[in-house]
Amino acid sequence: MKALEGVKILDFTHVQSGPTCTQLLAWFGADVIKVERPGVGDATRKQLVDVPGADSLYFTMLNHNKRSIELNPKTPEGKKVLTRLVEECDVLVENFAPGALDRMGFSWENIQTINPRIIMASIKGFGPGKYQDCKVYENVAQCAGGSASTTGFRDGPPLVTGAQIGDSGTGLHLALGIVTALFQREKSGRGQKVSAAMQDGVLNLARVKLRDQQRLAAGPLEEYSQFGEGIPFGDAVPRAGNDSGGGQPGRILKCKGWEQDPNAYTYFIIQAAIWDKVCDVIGEPEWKTKDGFAKPKDRLDKLNQIFDRIEQWTMTMTKFEVMDTCNPHDIPVGPILSMKEIMEDEGLYATGTLVKVPHPERGEYVSVGCPIKLSDSDVKVERSPLLGEHTRQILSDVLGYAGTELDEIIASGAVGEVK
Ligand SMILES: CC(C)(COP(=O)(O)OP(=O)(O)OC[C@H]1O[C@@H](n2cnc3c(N)ncnc32)[C@H](O)[C@@H]1OP(=O)(O)O)[C@@H](O)C(=O)NCCC(=O)NCCS
Repeated sequence: MKALEGVKILDFTHVQSGPTCTQLLAWFGADVIKVERPGVGDATRKQLVDVPGADSLYFTMLNHNKRSIELNPKTPEGKKVLTRLVEECDVLVENFAPGALDRMGFSWENIQTINPRIIMASIKGFGPGKYQDCKVYENVAQCAGGSASTTGFRDGPPLVTGAQIGDSGTGLHLALGIVTALFQREKSGRGQKVSAAMQDGVLNLARVKLRDQQRLAAGPLEEYSQFGEGIPFGDAVPRAGNDSGGGQPGRILKCKGWEQDPNAYTYFIIQAAIWDKVCDVIGEPEWKTKDGFAKPKDRLDKLNQIFDRIEQWTMTMTKFEVMDTCNPHDIPVGPILSMKEIMEDEGLYATGTLVKVPHPERGEYVSVGCPIKLSDSDVKVERSPLLGEHTRQILSDVLGYAGTELDEIIASGAVGEVK
């Protein structure tokens, strides 16, 4: 048995944020029914295409374990079918632009009237307020949520990160909201509306930077490199380069081969607890007791000198040799792994974090599997559905349409060309 077995999700999501949420729910066993515009489908099916004619990796990697029905709820027959889906499902998830669902005639009030037990979960760019009507994509959320202003180097422009904290991050937040609402429904018998704004999701992940914003009132942020360099702070949290966010000095340092390999680097943290071991490992044992080096606070204005010396040492070995040498001493280091290296890591396939998925149109591809492991709810990653692959199956098996009624719906065009 899977954790969410028996839970039916009406998946009205598209692009990235919503689909990551419903994909997680599908992996935990929910029956996820993806509703797509007839003949077109989720726009990502045909974005960043690498195999002509086939669904893109953008789409396939975000829509595993789902079923697809083509449906246009803007037609009279389509409205009837969507109403039946709302009646049948436990959760409706959507990430349309603000107002789009209302314009289809499916406001939260109407949805509740159709099915008082349904949970309606929405992702929008912003919560209620002056920006509530804006359409929002990943990088806009990263900028509005405080991530971009605090990422990058002090003397460079704000930076967005490669991790999709606005889209996939908010999808994760929404998934937690949905299972929490399902849990509450067990006791209350009622559904509810679950909302996650991308700005809020990013800000939640950038929480430590709001911490630092308030600490600024009490004086400079001593763990930021600029403090040791004697550079004054302004009135907002600055970009901290590759400083560690947790108060322990840390940097990204070059390793052997950095001249050719853009990822021949390691992260290196010099926690107070392992300072003596760092000194021994890099061949500076006298730093353990030397004035100006022995105490963490005294080292703050010498971090550039200290990390330069550590880098001289890390440059004598590969990032993996640095890891192998430092780990036995509990010195926290981490190799900068390229996506190529990650994709070649057999250990990640063994745990199901990476999976090879067969696909009828594009052949086998590699995807990230379920990153959350449940000991009693196994995940088998299944390929994403082709557009409208399950239209007939959903109309008949889930909604109970048969005979002339089924024929009429199909003939109306509301559900695309049914195979
Ligand atoms: C992502 C986003 C910017 C995309 O905008 P978009 O491509 O213009 O798509 P919209 O959500 O506005 O939907 C476009 C239209 O398609 C229509 N549509 C969607 N599914 C349909 C279907 N199955 N049949 C018929 N029409 C459909 C919508 O009703 C809407 O029409 P309307 O504006 O005339 O009422 C926007 O959806 C958004 O801001 N979403 C919330 C935030 C979010 O999740 N952003 C991150 C995405 S990764």
